[in-house]
Parts: sequence; structure tokens; C-alpha cells
Amino acid sequence: MDKLQQEIEQVFRDAESIWDSQEYGNLKTLWDEKDPYPFYLAEEQANWKIGWHALKTYWEPIPGKRMIEAIRMRFYDIKIKELSQDLVFIGGWVRHDMKIRGPMKAWGGDARMSAVLRKKEAGWKFVAYTESHRTPLTYMMDLYKKQPSIPIVRTIVQRFMTRLYEKNVHPEFAAFHKNIMETEKTEYKVNFWTKLSFIGPKIINSFAKITGKKTIPKSYIPGLIPCLNGRGFMEKDLNGISTRFVDESAKMEGISLDVGCAYGIATLAALKGGSEVVACDMDQAHLDILLKETPEKDKPRLTTKKGTLPGVDFKNQSFVAIHCSRCLHFLVPEELKLTLEKMYNWLQPGGKIYLITDTCFSGPWKKYLPEFDRRKAEGDPFPGFIEDALQCLPVSKLPKGMTPHMNCLDPDTLARECKLAGFEIIEADFLGPARSEAKYAKDHAGIIAIKN
Ligand SMILES: C[S@@+](CC[C@H](N)C(=O)[O-])C[C@H]1O[C@@H](n2cnc3c(N)ncnc32)[C@H](O)[C@@H]1O
Repeated sequence: MDKLQQEIEQVFRDAESIWDSQEYGNLKTLWDEKDPYPFYLAEEQANWKIGWHALKTYWEPIPGKRMIEAIRMRFYDIKIKELSQDLVFIGGWVRHDMKIRGPMKAWGGDARMSAVLRKKEAGWKFVAYTESHRTPLTYMMDLYKKQPSIPIVRTIVQRFMTRLYEKNVHPEFAAFHKNIMETEKTEYKVNFWTKLSFIGPKIINSFAKITGKKTIPKSYIPGLIPCLNGRGFMEKDLNGISTRFVDESAKMEGISLDVGCAYGIATLAALKGGSEVVACDMDQAHLDILLKETPEKDKPRLTTKKGTLPGVDFKNQSFVAIHCSRCLHFLVPEELKLTLEKMYNWLQPGGKIYLITDTCFSGPWKKYLPEFDRRKAEGDPFPGFIEDALQCLPVSKLPKGMTPHMNCLDPDTLARECKLAGFEIIEADFLGPARSEAKYAKDHAGIIAIKN
């Protein structure tokens, strides 16, 4: 241990001895009494004690009288930063164990401690001292880890404390948060190690494909399951618009359509809710897996149909609700227009569409954002239409089955096209990925519209 460390450690050992003696008023002997403006903050204090009067009355509120039966202080992990020849900043930890007078039992705790000490003739002396507690939520959870005998209380406390934190958000934060999300960095990069982590699941998925195994592929991007045909990923969770489809279609009398259903995240939920569903996808292998995953009790209410938009057809007025999540962006503008017109015809009057598409704020398409902004400002009717999707993707070759283009649709563009097809818009907004609760995220455009 070097000389300075030894000297400073000694100051803290002296402090421990004074605390042990329970004569807290003597702590002032460790301070630079010539300093006109001492600072002190103990972890239980609501505010700083500044100035000699405040410090002395804190150490000894009524001279000669103790409110505490016993207190033991121990300082550890002391780190030193030299500020100048005669000033040091100290960072470390302090442990206290104490018993207050009265019915309360003894307790103990650890807190971060920092201090500024000045070199005087008589040695190093405090000019400032603070104890800083960790945020109570994480501190409490660590205390609970040491007390496995009270596990139920742990989750209740965690939920209760989190709720208190949530209730404590400053009213100005929402606007601030929104602003930050709006100007969020738009770069999209997949680093080497992340790409490397994709290899294992990709090999397993290729093997399953070759052997014709009807199982849901392994996920290698959190929240997303790769499609078998290179057309992106199915979300593992339902987004807000899909949830509305599931809830509302269960209350409607008639059949619902889920088109571009992949392995049926929305279809399965709608069936569970009691709906009768036609699940349609361009890839029969997706539908086979969906059939395998469907519980026996729901199978009588499920029909699958292999079909590709905009070519696929259904009888006019066959459905009460149509859900199409993250599929329409594979269509070029003319195909999109035709698809929306067909959807209008497939719906009964009063029926609703629930549409979700990728926007230029989503994943690799972020690369196109500057171009999207420029084209939108110029009044381009499809400003998010990316002719060469490969220019945004983090791969050198277009995945087999992926369209060469990508038609990222913002809520305005999608709403306009739905209106042109005859729909009345109920709501049109951005939404984030299903697995996150990111309120101001803009990864997707979501529309609910009605055929009146
Ligand atoms: C990105 S995944 C979305 C899956 C799911 N609906 C979701 O929201 O997570 C797109 C799905 O749509 C299907 N698909 C893509 N283009 C299609 C088209 N033109 N017609 C029908 N299905 C299509 C794909 O086979 C795939 O299952």
C-alpha cells in the first residue's frame, strides 16, 4: 500500500474508532475546522448539512444525549483521486449496523461513500463527506436475494416500487422522450459477432428445411422467427393492431382472414379467442406448420389457403375482419392498390381491416430514411418505395425468395391508399416492434379501417 493510501485509510480507521466510541461529536476532530463551508450528507438525511452549525447539530443534536443505542461504521474499498498536492477525492463504501432506541430491531446496510480531504499540518482532514445510496429498487432486490425465505414479498415489493417510480415521471418527460425518439440515430449495423451468432440457428433451420421437418424455425434475432421463404420474420408477440384484430374479431359474427399469416401468431390467438379464421400465406410450408401448431379443439374453425397477394381471391363479402401484418410492404404500389380494392370486396359491410407494414424507421430500412424524407417532402406518393432492397440489407446477396424491392409505407401513405380503396379510417399511426413497449417507436405503420 503506498504512503498516501495508508494515510487516507488511517483517517477512516480513526473515524471508525470515533463511531465505535459512540461519541459522535468527536467526528469534528477529523475535519478541517478552518474550512468555512463543510458539506455532509448521510444516507438517511433528506438534504445536505452545510456549515459547521448544521454538521455539529447533526452529529450531536442534544450534547451528551444519544438517540442511538449503538452504531458501528466500517469503511471499505477506499479509492483515491489526487486533485492537487493538498486535496484528494475519495470514493468508497460504508457499512453501517445500528440499533435505534425503542422497539425497532437492529439493522444494517451498505452505501457508496465519497469525500474530499485536505492536507493540513496535523494530517488529512475532511472538508466534504457524502453517503449515496443505490436506487432503492435495485438495492432492495439485492437485499431480497440474500433473503430467499421471503420470496413472495419480493415480487410484490418490486412491482410496487416500480409503480412508484413510474408514477414519479416528470410531466415534461413525455415530450422530451418523444423528441429524442424522433431524432434517434438511424444507423443500422449488424456487427461481426452478432452475425456469427446467427450461424448455429441458420444451419439448424436449413437442415430442418432439407429434411422437410415441419417445425417452427429457430429464432436468432430476439422477438423474430425467420420465415422459410426469405420474406422476413414473424414476430413472436402480437403488436397492438394485431391484438385489436384478435379481440374484436372474436366479438364479430362471421369469418376472419389472416393473410401473410406465416406460422400463425395472430391466427392462433384469434382461434383461441373463439374466432373462425381463414389463414392465407404464399408458402404452404408455413401453413403446414400452423396446422401442426393448432390445438385440436381449434382446428374445426381453421381453414388454410395457399395464395399470393395480389393474385389470390376470395368470394366477395366472405369476411368480417381482415388482418394483414407485415406483408403488404412486399407489394409494388399497383399491387398494393389492387390488394386493398380486393380486401374491400372480400369484406362484408361493417367489416374491418387491420393492417401493419414496415416503415423506413424499421431495421435495415433506416438506411433509406434520408431518401424517404427527401421524397416525402417532394410529394412522392410512395416515398418509402425502395427499388433495390439489397442496398439496405446487411447481406451481400438478396435472400432467396425476397422481393428485389421493398415498399415501406408510412401511416399517411397507407391511410390514403385505404381511403382510395373505399375504406373509412378508424385509426392510422406508427407503432413499435411487438416485443417492446416503445411508445414513440415508428418501426411499423398500423391501420384499422372500416367498410361502411
Ligand atoms: C414478414 S412475415 C410476417 C408474418 C406475420 N404476419 C407477422 O406479422 O409477424 C411475411 C409473411 O407474409 C408472407 N407473404 C409475403 N408476401 C406475400 C404475398 N405477396 N402474398 C401472401 N403472403 C405473402 C410470407 O410468406 C410470410 O409468411
